[in-house]
Amino acid sequence: MFSAETYINRRKELIKNVGSGIYLFLGNQEAPMNYTDNTYRYRQDSTFLYFFGLNIPGLAALIDADKNEVTLFGNDYTLNDVVWMGPQESLRNLASLVGIQSILPFNDLFKKVKSETQFLPAYRGDNKILLSELLGLKVSELKPSEKLTKAVIKLRSIKEPQELEAMTKAVNISGEMHMAVKGALKAGVYEYEMVAKIMEKLHSKHAELSYPVICSTNGQYLHNHNHSQKCEAGKILLLDTGAEMELGYAGDITRSFAVSGSFSTKQQEIYDTVLNIENSVIELLKPGVSYLEMHKYANKLMLNNLKEIGLLKGDMSEAQELGLGGMFMPHGLGHMIGLDVHDMEDLNENWVGYADDQVRSTQLGLRSLRLAKNLEAGMVLTVEPGIYFVPGLIADFKSQDWTHAFVNYSKLESYADFGGIRLEDNVAITESSFTVLGDAIEK
Ligand code: GLY
Ligand code: MN
Ligand code: MN
Repeated sequence: MFSAETYINRRKELIKNVGSGIYLFLGNQEAPMNYTDNTYRYRQDSTFLYFFGLNIPGLAALIDADKNEVTLFGNDYTLNDVVWMGPQESLRNLASLVGIQSILPFNDLFKKVKSETQFLPAYRGDNKILLSELLGLKVSELKPSEKLTKAVIKLRSIKEPQELEAMTKAVNISGEMHMAVKGALKAGVYEYEMVAKIMEKLHSKHAELSYPVICSTNGQYLHNHNHSQKCEAGKILLLDTGAEMELGYAGDITRSFAVSGSFSTKQQEIYDTVLNIENSVIELLKPGVSYLEMHKYANKLMLNNLKEIGLLKGDMSEAQELGLGGMFMPHGLGHMIGLDVHDMEDLNENWVGYADDQVRSTQLGLRSLRLAKNLEAGMVLTVEPGIYFVPGLIADFKSQDWTHAFVNYSKLESYADFGGIRLEDNVAITESSFTVLGDAIEK
């Protein structure tokens, strides 16, 4: 964890931003996989980690802004716990590491939480039920505090130097995971064998995944978690994988590799287009730049390049306006990253990524853009353009008459088994420009 001062200062800043009241924070409990004692990997709630630093289940905290008091709720380990888990640090000692002196048993929350207590949106079923019981409301009646949620988003959006250092470590491990795959990839291996290379590297660094691995020769399907295919010569392996280091900070990196070691001309043209988009966008990043405009710029470069390749025709500005970009890149250009791979998506995607006066588009591609705000120094975000040939989506566009003025379908149909290409890096916004986090990962 970071120093006690880090957590004390973050809580002070929060009080400054929210003002009077009592704020409740629920940590995460163990999550059962198939019965209570057989659990998924434990993952603490990221906001709890941010303000309270303690990476163990069974905790909650209250901040009383008016009394400037912080209370941790949790139960000390019993002898029975020790029999199963070995000796554990006392809650008092753990709490002092994050600058908290006041500790109460977990169930005392029921005495302390009042109807006016402010809380954040819950995303796990057990915490929704706990909130409902604490407040005596149905789950559907729970109303998270907008003021508290927006203040948390404001603080977590701007990364401290020590957070950037942690994220750089996560990116470097993620890069090594990619290179482990690159070193082992050849025609005839199975995708799951490549996942094994990733996991070996990850665990050798004592790290965990920040999201499920995407490792697929069907990279046109954006979050395809099926790893059963054989990597055939001539195909592209799309690898989107990232590590989460011990403090919880994430990396989120994508590379697209030729299974046989080199691309065909057709693949190279698309790869170069994606690479050019990624580099062109990154070079423009600095405080004040609108990420919504960056997404549109990426779309414009993509459509113009696809026209040069001969897949498209006509007026590309008009095509973009009508939404043709979504046919090839049906996702957003990027998102904030931090303690969560899609940072703070539990708190409210639009409050995280959109200014109050920005209305989210409903157009394919643009509607999945999670970050549209103007950039600020200290933000960390992903830049992840991609071009995909999704047969079902192409057929759907083809069925719309307007697209025939812009798409050379006869040529496009020869891309039916192409797959997809995406490149993704994690970029920190500095006072006047940007830094791509971590050591360069081969492209
Ligand atoms: N790895 C998930 C994403 O790129 O958003
Ligand atoms: Mn990714
Ligand atoms: Mn991403």
